[in-house]
Amino acid sequence: MAIEFVWDEKYSVNDEEIDQQHKSLFAMGNEIHFASLKEKKGLVLQLYKYTLEHFDKEEEHMKKMDFPLLREHTALHGDLISTLNDITADGLQTKREADAFEKFVYRWLSRHIQTEDRKYADFTKTSK
Ligand code: FEO
Repeated sequence: MAIEFVWDEKYSVNDEEIDQQHKSLFAMGNEIHFASLKEKKGLVLQLYKYTLEHFDKEEEHMKKMDFPLLREHTALHGDLISTLNDITADGLQTKREADAFEKFVYRWLSRHIQTEDRKYADFTKTSK
């Protein structure tokens, strides 16, 4: 299955630093997509660590702006990390597991950013 992680302005949350982090996640998704199965393992760990850093940064950002859905959003991040843990538990041994991982990351990046992250971006606009 061909998955291409392409950044687009529709993913912007009107915060330069967080947009940059999302762009880095897209870039990591592409790197994983084009890597060999052996290379993917190291890259997945890199993406996992970066995702944790990103979630910390984003939660801090939402806290600073008193975003009312902070608790719900933090719970969604917890669910995503939990799914990431499940998918990568045995270290992506097969192409099928690698494909499932990419599919999950793609869904997360495209859907979570456009729906959930969008909510704090819209809140920023209305609270100014
Ligand atoms: Fe950018 Fe809520 O993840």
